[in-house]
Order: sequence, then C-alpha cells, then structure tokens
Amino acid sequence: MRSVSIIGAGITKFGEHWERSFRELVVEAGIKALQDAGIEGKQIQALYGGCMASGMFIGQEHIGALIADQLGLNPIPSTRVEAACASGGVALRNAYLAVASGAYDIVAVGGVEKMTEVSTTIATQALGGAGDEETELFFGATFPALYALMARRHMEEYGTTEDQLAMVSVKNHKNACLNPYAQFQKEISVEDVLNSGYVASPLKLLDCSPITDGAAALILCETNLARKICERPVEVVASAQASDSLALANRKSLTELRATKIAAREIYEKTGLKPKDISFAEVHDCFTIAEILAIEDLGFFEKGYGGKATEKGLTALNSEISINPSGGLKGKGHPVGATGVAQAVEAYLQLRGAAGKRQVKDASFGLTHNVGGSGATVVIHVFKAIEGKR
Ligand code: COA
Repeated sequence: MRSVSIIGAGITKFGEHWERSFRELVVEAGIKALQDAGIEGKQIQALYGGCMASGMFIGQEHIGALIADQLGLNPIPSTRVEAACASGGVALRNAYLAVASGAYDIVAVGGVEKMTEVSTTIATQALGGAGDEETELFFGATFPALYALMARRHMEEYGTTEDQLAMVSVKNHKNACLNPYAQFQKEISVEDVLNSGYVASPLKLLDCSPITDGAAALILCETNLARKICERPVEVVASAQASDSLALANRKSLTELRATKIAAREIYEKTGLKPKDISFAEVHDCFTIAEILAIEDLGFFEKGYGGKATEKGLTALNSEISINPSGGLKGKGHPVGATGVAQAVEAYLQLRGAAGKRQVKDASFGLTHNVGGSGATVVIHVFKAIEGKR
C-alpha cells in the first residue's frame, strides 16, 4: 500500500443556509480545496462524496455524478458514499484506499448535507433511517431517544451525571466560538444546558447536535507526489472501519460502541501509537453522551471515567488531550454527510498550525472518529504533518 497525504482542504460555514443551495455549498467547498492545493480540476482523477439522505432533505439523489458535474470534473468517476452520519468518513476512507492501492494518484473527497429545507419532523425521520427500522423507528424511537438510552445506562453503571453531560456541551460551544466556520458562536453555561428542556430524558436541547447545512472537501495525493507539489502535506497515517448491529437491542453493552473499540485497536496496532500519543481528536459528539463514550472507547480515559475527565477539564483545548477543538458536532454543527470530511479538514488545519485561535499547541498526531447511526458504522483516521517542497 502506498502512503497518502492531504494537500488541500475547503469548508463552508456550517449553519442554516436559507439563501444557498446544496449545489452552491458543494461548489464552494470543492473550489476552496482545489485552490488550497494549488491544482486544477483536470488533475483530479476520481471523486468520492459523502452524503446521507439528500433524497429526503432536498429530493435529489445521484449525488456522485451531480457533484462532479457542478465542479466541472466530468467525466471522472464520481461515487456517492452513504453510511449515515459516517458517510463523510467512509468517503474519505474509500478515497484513501483508492490512492493507497495505486488506482489513482490524486482524488477529491467531498461531504455535504442540506438539512434545513425540511421541517424538524421530516429531518428526524430522515436521521432515524440510520437506526433499525423494524425494532426502533417503527416503534417511534428517534436518535435523541436512542442516545438517551445509552446515557441513562452510563449514568446507572458509572455514576455519570447530567452536569457532566452538560460540561461536554459547554466545552464544545466554547471551542466553537474560536472557529469562524462553526454554527454556534455563543458560550453557554451548565445551567443553560440543564434548563434547555428535555428532548429525550436525560438529554436536553443543548445536549444535542443541531440540524445543519454545510459542505467540506479534501484533496488526497500519493505522498511522494504530495511532497513535490505541497509545502506541508498532512499524511493519513492510518485508516480503520468497523461495523455493528443497527439495533441497540442486539448489542451486548449500551455503554460502549464496540465498533469504535475494534477500529481503534486496529489503528493502534497498525501505527504502534498509544492513545497518549494523540494530541487532539475530533470525535463524534452527536449527543453529549456520545463524546463521553468516544473518549473512553478510543482509550483516552478508562471506561466509566469520561464524565469525570470532562468535569476535571482534561478534554478542554490544550489540556491533557484536546477533544473537539473545532467545536465538534455540538458546537460546529452536524451536516450529517459532511461531518466526517469536516473532521479531517480540522485535523489538516491543526497539524499545519493553521487553526487560528483554537490552535492545539505542539500538535503531533490528530485523530478523527466518525460514527454512523448509534454506532453501526465507525471510521477512524490518524494524521500527521510531514515535510513537503521547500
Ligand atoms: N443546539 C443548540 N441550539 C439549538 C439546537 C441545538 N441542537 N437545536 C436548535 N437550537 C436552537 C435554534 O438555533 C433556535 O434558536 P433561536 O430561537 O435563537 O433561533 C432554537 O433552538 C429553536 O430551534 P428549532 O429549530 O425550532 O429546534 P427544534 O426543536 O426544531 O430542533 C432538536 C431541536 C434537538 C430536535 C434538533 O436540533 C435535533 O433533532 N437535533 C439532533 C440531530 C440529530 O439527531 N443528528 C443526528 C445524530 S446521530
């Protein structure tokens, strides 16, 4: 397998884009990534685009070809990748594998979702499709409800508190204030979260990631070539993906995501890295409990200690490990198909020292963790910056 690096990245502001179309968001992120890489569209040999539910959100399918067309990249092969909220991360992994295998030297990866065209009811239905239709959706379970079950169990088994859940949100909103691309630019307090009203007990409005429009893009390149054309490429050090049952009822445990643990083990075995070698991680905090599960399952903290670690400030920017310096899904926003790509955009910026006020000091290895559904798909990547052309 060949080494693969990121040579360019682009992202739109995340938020409610009433005045802009799905296509405009795709084009903005794509053009920015090409400009950042300093290459022309005709050098791109293939495109992989993550998108979860465009049929329900905007009435448009066949997104692979649409993206290539909008970016003027016809006739290169262009493939849509769907893995619920992990669509972007799995698109990145497929692009990585395509370059690593030698099939292509330079490929583009995109992620996009335009979620605000529909009511919250329809959005909830669309998102629910990531769960198990027969045992969950059919009986009225929504995504906040599924994660609420996990939160309740974690509280029961480990004594995690609603205050500790709230602290995840407070931290991520604080980081988001330092990120000009984030949906929310407002600091909040634990009291704000506790008083924000239950969506599915114990999760409240401010424990939930929002409904978001946005797009993100990356240019991947074989590393020897990347060193020739880019001053500071960011190498994809390793990629791993794992699956689990869609239905929570079929899982042995509600207090861990098995797919995260399996993919993380593969990452650490492949790279020889230990969790303590990771400077920062963009983890999938679709709900506050999800961040707590992630930091435990990725090995940053012992099982059951995620809430306490958050309370002690060990996950804050430039603390023991910076978790979600971008603001995460909670603060930056969660345009589902774009999220996995946006996480890698943040890793690229951080590792090049280009993350502005939210810069993680002396960042060496960055990790991204993207989850589909309630944990049925998990994809993890690790990145580091390398020397390029002088
Ligand atoms: N975090 C912070 N603020 C939020 C928010 C969130 N998650 N969701 C909505 N708001 C704010 C809005 O900005 C708005 O503020 P304003 O009145 O100042 O403009 C206000 O709350 C009301 O927004 P509205 O759009 O009416 O909320 P809603 O009740 O329709 O939706 C949720 C709230 C929690 C149901 C929705 O955000 C949601 O479904 N989130 C989860 C998304 C999800 O499941 N993603 C997939 C995860 S796997």
